[in-house]
Amino acid sequence: MTTSHPALVRAEAFASSHHLQVPILLAPMAGASPASLSIAVANAGGLGSCGALLMQPSAIKAWAAEVRAGSNGGFQLNLWIPDPPPRRDPAAEDAVRAFLGGWGPEVAREAGDATPPDFTAQCEALLEIAPPIVSSIMGLYPPAFVDRMKAKGIKWFANVSSVTEAKAAEDAGADVVVAQGMEAGGHRGAFDAETAEANMVGLFSLLPAVVDAVSIPVVATGGIADARGVAAALLLGASAAQVGTGFLRCPEAKLPAAWADAIGRTLPEQTMVSRTFSGRPGRSIATPYTRAAVSPQAPKPAPYPVQRGLTQAMRDAAIKANDLDRMQAWAGQSSALALAHPASEVVSTLWEGAQALLNAAAP
Ligand SMILES: Cc1cc2nc3c(=O)[nH]c(=O)nc-3n(C[C@H](O)[C@H](O)[C@H](O)COP(=O)(O)O)c2cc1C
Repeated sequence: MTTSHPALVRAEAFASSHHLQVPILLAPMAGASPASLSIAVANAGGLGSCGALLMQPSAIKAWAAEVRAGSNGGFQLNLWIPDPPPRRDPAAEDAVRAFLGGWGPEVAREAGDATPPDFTAQCEALLEIAPPIVSSIMGLYPPAFVDRMKAKGIKWFANVSSVTEAKAAEDAGADVVVAQGMEAGGHRGAFDAETAEANMVGLFSLLPAVVDAVSIPVVATGGIADARGVAAALLLGASAAQVGTGFLRCPEAKLPAAWADAIGRTLPEQTMVSRTFSGRPGRSIATPYTRAAVSPQAPKPAPYPVQRGLTQAMRDAAIKANDLDRMQAWAGQSSALALAHPASEVVSTLWEGAQALLNAAAP
């Protein structure tokens, strides 16, 4: 197959500069990044990925060792840049606890105290592992950490959800920005938790604007789940496509069955962005719990990460019972395009299809 279309030439150059065979990146997905999925994507020529937010340093190291043992391919390790400590409001948390008690087990008062693993220790683990790529979301790495990454030859991919964030990432030394459209499944990557829902920009607007605003390569993510989406992203100026929900039905993703099955039948208008699971806005399937939790009668969710702690018991019970109604079922707007095929087939379907579409349109 020829690769004469300029968008393909750009994507292939990007892939080879990162030692990939295809410009398809598995999106980092905290809680949904098993090594098996990354091994399959990397062995198909794409980039593996670990959303390490909730993992202790030892678990991140074990993940990287497993992926390195199972594949010669590359991977990215991803962390959330921590928000300032939340402002606690015991009375408001009691109201959330009472509400959640109607959806799952009684919620202990201390549940809201749960915090993610120590960010500094996670950063040290990343430097020790020295993956080809480290990515960020919800903000930018501190300059000293950026310097240490660069000294080790690690490339920094910064997730952004606006043009302003993209410029800030470039100024801070990011090698690549990942433009996340509001179609994306999971949490929105907006740097400011307070305003994360106010500036919801779709990928068709965000991507060309970011491409025009920065001089570093741009990866597109959010709602890309078939070859048409990959081809469109490359035409709009992206150098690669990063896919999350589109890989979640693969057997290697090992998702709870109720969640994986629902992804396959969820229409774009059947997902919603809410703070109901973690306190930070994220896009999930519009389940009975999420709908009830955003109704005017429901208490306002606590800030991140307090809400995550408060919903833990309900989420655990939902997984145990394979009960979609109250499961944290993250999903992007293009869910129904996701294929329940092995990940290697998804990678080749995405890339070969995009090549065919773009070559058919080659000048
Ligand atoms: C289950 C799930 C968990 C996610 N966790 C993270 C994360 O930890 N870090 C991150 O940068 N992005 C995270 N995201 C966002 C993805 O990296 C990516 O932006 C999104 O999946 C793209 O949209 P799509 O799902 O429509 O492909 C998550 C997405 C999903 C679906």
